[in-house]
Formats: sequence, C-alpha cells, structure tokens
Amino acid sequence: MNGRQGCSVLFVCLGNICRSPTAEGVFRAICEREGLSGQVFIDSAGTAAYHVGEPPDRRSQEAARRRGIDLSSLRARQLADEDFHRFDLLLAMDNANLSAMHDRCPEVCRDRLALFLAQAPELLQTEVPDPYYGGAQGFDEVLDLSAAAGRALLARVRELLGTE
Ligand code: 4NP
Repeated sequence: MNGRQGCSVLFVCLGNICRSPTAEGVFRAICEREGLSGQVFIDSAGTAAYHVGEPPDRRSQEAARRRGIDLSSLRARQLADEDFHRFDLLLAMDNANLSAMHDRCPEVCRDRLALFLAQAPELLQTEVPDPYYGGAQGFDEVLDLSAAAGRALLARVRELLGTE
C-alpha cells in the first residue's frame, strides 16, 4: 500500500513473541484512537522461526493487558521475502535484527528498513532491549518504549498518508 490510499508497517524482532507483537498492539491502539485504523495495516514478524505459530509470551500479554491492550489473538510468524515489498516501513527492534533484515532485503526496498526507536531520537536509545530472559520490568519497558516511539511513528505515518 502506498500514498494516500493507506500505509503499512511491520514490526520485527527475533522471536515475534515479545517485542514486535507488543509494538504491533500498542501502535494499533494508537491508530484506533486517532481514527486511522482503516488506513494503516499493521503486522509483526520475527527474523527467527523458533516460536512460529505461538501466541505472544504470557509475560508480554499480561503487561499489555494491564494497559488495556489485548495481544492474545496474535500468532508468531517468520519474516518472509514478500514482506520487503508489501510493507512501506519495516521497523527493527534492535541492530542485530536490522542487520538480518538488511542481509535479506532487495536493494530497491532498503530505504523501508529502520530501527523502531530511530523514529523518536529524543529517547536517546536506539534498541528495544530483549526482555525474554529478564524480569517483569523488562516487559513494561518494552511497552513504555513502544508507546513513545509509536507516537513519533504516528507523525511519519500521517506524512505517508498525506494527512499531515
Ligand atoms: P522477542 O524475544 O525477539 O522480543 O520476541 C525473544 C523471544 C524468544 C527468544 C529470544 C528473544 N528465544 O531465544 O527463544
């Protein structure tokens, strides 16, 4: 999807069970609140296949639910070659995943790739830390960063939609 008809955003992490589904759920809520749901297609994927078909990590679901965001219907999938053509923006949660995406991305689509947190340079942080092996606080941090970068991403999406 391009231009004024709509825009599409893919969030990408390693397993697609913690960070990218959280970013997907948070950004979907932001777009719904702004009345943009019909114009923005949002999805997430993992560069690895370990958890394909699984719902988001229970800890991610619980942390999101405490903020009114339901992640239970999401299922992990692996990044596919078609994604580089299908999505206007493919946003990586960290440098390792961005690098894995670059390696697979056709040259003509490279400018669609970015770090999620590069949308919000004021955060002074470029990577969303992987919460998988850590404590509960890591899952709240993913939500905080997703909310802050999601607000900045909204401005970028409005530009792509031509509604700014
Ligand atoms: P995510 O977190 O990339 O944010 O979904 C992880 C999930 C699973 C694993 C690593 C990170 N894992 O090694 O299984």
